[in-house]
Amino acid sequence: MAKPAIGVNFTVFCAPLASIPAASLSFDRWFPMTYAATSISTIDPDEIEKFTRMADEWWDPKGKFKPLHQLNPVRIAYLRNQICAHYGRDANQLHALSGLSILDVGCGGGLVSEPLARMGANVTGLDASEKNIAIASTHAAAQQLSLDYRAGSAEALAAEGAQYDVVCALEIIEHVADVNAFMQALAQLVRPGGLLFLSTLNRTTKSYLMAIVGAEYVLRWLPRGTHDWKKFLRPSELQHAIQEAGLTLTHQSGLVLDPFSRAWKLHPHDLDVNYLQTAKKPV
Ligand SMILES: C[S@@+](CC[C@H](N)C(=O)[O-])C[C@H]1O[C@@H](n2cnc3c(N)ncnc32)[C@H](O)[C@@H]1O
Repeated sequence: MAKPAIGVNFTVFCAPLASIPAASLSFDRWFPMTYAATSISTIDPDEIEKFTRMADEWWDPKGKFKPLHQLNPVRIAYLRNQICAHYGRDANQLHALSGLSILDVGCGGGLVSEPLARMGANVTGLDASEKNIAIASTHAAAQQLSLDYRAGSAEALAAEGAQYDVVCALEIIEHVADVNAFMQALAQLVRPGGLLFLSTLNRTTKSYLMAIVGAEYVLRWLPRGTHDWKKFLRPSELQHAIQEAGLTLTHQSGLVLDPFSRAWKLHPHDLDVNYLQTAKKPV
């Protein structure tokens, strides 16, 4: 049977293109400005400036990051236990995370990156603030820890094709310019079968009273304006963003402050203020 005329014409039209190197045909080679203009930045410059101004206090447990220092033991234990369960490791081993690659997005001064490196992981810490990265690098060197700290955005690192066994994005999503673009970049950075951890604040009346009125105005744990309540995410909204990015929520937990011991604890049902979610990328 004779080929339809349109097929013949298309073959003839395309034949000269076969002699052109593939790289010369790439879209962003010919339309670089169009490409750059349509890629969305997750960086909110005002937010980065805010954290840069506080950067000297990252490692002061009584300073502006006191709440993160107080949260650290419970959230690090959560990460360790979830990662060990997923990768079949013994969480009681000193170097339980040995050999795993972990990316800490929005690492700040390295409060999460360093404990993960101490457990044997190969940790990359990424932050949009150059000063945060300088503080984190200096602190790690003083501790004789070897970490790979980089200034930049998740989307830029994702565009390089980098992938990790585990990606952590703790207490950052409420500070980014575009939640969905940020989640897409995080999803790309997780290797197939790998894990993504997120923590943030719920958007409830209780969180307004505790995280804004209480922490910023009454107790003054945080400088006023650290958080914008409207940017807090409900667990269902975060789960939806995770699913839209192609990952599956596998676990979530609330984080609550015990009024008697003054220590933070995991809570299986109380996600009213602070919470953590774990997601898995399909193989
Ligand atoms: C509240 S701090 C959390 C630090 C750390 N993850 C922790 O929990 O200890 C948020 C950090 O995210 C960084 N950040 C905010 N938006 C960012 C973005 N779009 N890309 C990379 N870093 C960002 C800020 O510079 C800041 O260091």
